[in-house]
Amino acid sequence: MKTPPALHELERIPRHVAVIMDGNGRWARQRLLPRIEGHRRGIESVRAVVRAAGELGIEYLTLYAFSKENWRRPKMEIAALMRLLERFLREEIGELNENKVRLKTIGARDDLPPRVLSQLRKTEAATAKNSGLTLILALSYGARDEILRAVRRVAADAVAGRLSPDAVDEIAFAARLDTAGVPDPDLLIRTSGELRVSNFLLWQISYAEFVISPALWPDFRREHFLEALREFANRRRRFGGVDPVSRKA
Ligand code: IPE
Ligand code: IPE
Ligand code: MG
Repeated sequence: MKTPPALHELERIPRHVAVIMDGNGRWARQRLLPRIEGHRRGIESVRAVVRAAGELGIEYLTLYAFSKENWRRPKMEIAALMRLLERFLREEIGELNENKVRLKTIGARDDLPPRVLSQLRKTEAATAKNSGLTLILALSYGARDEILRAVRRVAADAVAGRLSPDAVDEIAFAARLDTAGVPDPDLLIRTSGELRVSNFLLWQISYAEFVISPALWPDFRREHFLEALREFANRRRRFGGVDPVSRKA
């Protein structure tokens, strides 16, 4: 008789993993290369992690690709990042479809240059019917910005008489966030050793487990991702309650 898979293999795979992809600039600086070379190499890491997530049956993978605050960077770097993004969206369609990955975004996407936005729409449409992993790119994303846009929707619905103030509960609010319909991340990974959240998914990560990887994003590949998942599998999530074991005490 075939032995059933270990419990952790069945139950400890997170449904939703969010990643703050950080350290591209430092990776390049260590090699005396321009920062953009770090971003270029980082795309290989995106491919590796998307592939692994799909294979493992993770349902949602959210990648912080460009923050609302990243518009403060030098014009040259922003332009290069936008070119890389557009190319990725164009060239990746085949691979995304092969792996049944559906692409979505969160963030103030209207901030993006028209060329990028139009490619984004094409890639979303081309992958919309895929039934595997949902890959969510956070683009021009800031959590406070997202929360404020949701607050404006709540206010508009209330003024229009579609929503009573008493009905504004967590479910009604979350339904107006960019992540509407997506379960909260179970695991949040940040690369390059930084211990901060940088305005990412502030509402959604209330009970996410954090794993900080010292690897710079361009070096972060399948093995590092699996390592983070192993760490997650060994955590005990309590959601404010007590462990079932200590409950008996
Ligand atoms: C992450 O790498 C990529 C983006 C924020 C777009 P960084 O560019 O922030 O790299 P470091 O933090 O300067 O090393
Ligand atoms: C967070 O990284 C944003 C992304 C990964 C896209 P940053 O490099 O912009 O964050 P800070 O400035 O170090 O907090
Ligand atoms: Mg950084």
